[in-house]
Amino acid sequence: MSRPELHASPTDFRLACDRARSSGARVALVPTMGALHDGHLSLVREARRHAEVVAVSIFVNPTQFGPSEDFSRYPRDLASDVAKLAGESVDLVFCPDAPAMYPAGEQTRVRVGALAEPLCGAFRPGHFEGVATVVSKLLILTGPAVAVFGKKDYQQLAVLRRVVVDLMLPVTIVGAGIVREPDGLAMSSRNAYLSPEERARALALCRGLRAAHALFSAGERAPDALLAPVLGEVRSAADRVDYVSLVDADSLATVARAGERALVAIACHVGRTRLIDNVVLGEDPSP
Ligand code: PAF
Repeated sequence: MSRPELHASPTDFRLACDRARSSGARVALVPTMGALHDGHLSLVREARRHAEVVAVSIFVNPTQFGPSEDFSRYPRDLASDVAKLAGESVDLVFCPDAPAMYPAGEQTRVRVGALAEPLCGAFRPGHFEGVATVVSKLLILTGPAVAVFGKKDYQQLAVLRRVVVDLMLPVTIVGAGIVREPDGLAMSSRNAYLSPEERARALALCRGLRAAHALFSAGERAPDALLAPVLGEVRSAADRVDYVSLVDADSLATVARAGERALVAIACHVGRTRLIDNVVLGEDPSP
């Protein structure tokens, strides 16, 4: 276990990445907003499989939060995050403040088209523009060979794959599987907001996805039939449902019939906490 090199300045971080690359090392980047849990650490381990130098960014990006969202109360604990990353022998940690990432006078954004519109895009206006913008900046600063993102944020991963193709950024995007608690709850920094009663209700998401997975495995392909048990579970447990959708796993467009691969995705609110979860039918194991 060795303490990672910490950089708050974009210039210093860029120089550290330049040094790593010029010594012949491949660099892998894991972008995060901190409040690290085992899901993040699995991304770090995946990154290590691809590169000699692993860099993790910790930045709660203001431009991806809406005005009524949880930017100000988002959990922040840099010391504990760095200790966890030291345990994974992470080499570099980039922890800038907002003015460093968005200097005075900035007015540039990266906006993705149709992929950013359905699902979370319909409920979080501007969210994917904020994500695409900050991740583009992080990729340009770091110059990594690979960047690793979790599949829990499935649409984010799809949007970012599009960004690197469209902007011709020389990086391979790697998606890493959802990490779940033993009872099935998908790991998320936002789980920290849940009361014990809300956490128990949150298990409905995973139960619903399991039911859809079982129906698909038994040959069901009709979206309404596949979604019925998911809707039942989520409606009975959540305080507000943003969406329960079945879409094409690549285009994220709605389909009349589930194909070989189909994404079932959920976003809902339990108490004040917005939760998301998903499964790719025909690809992922049962959640
Ligand atoms: O998934 C996240 O934590 C964030 O959206 C990301 C990719 C770090 C961009 O701020």
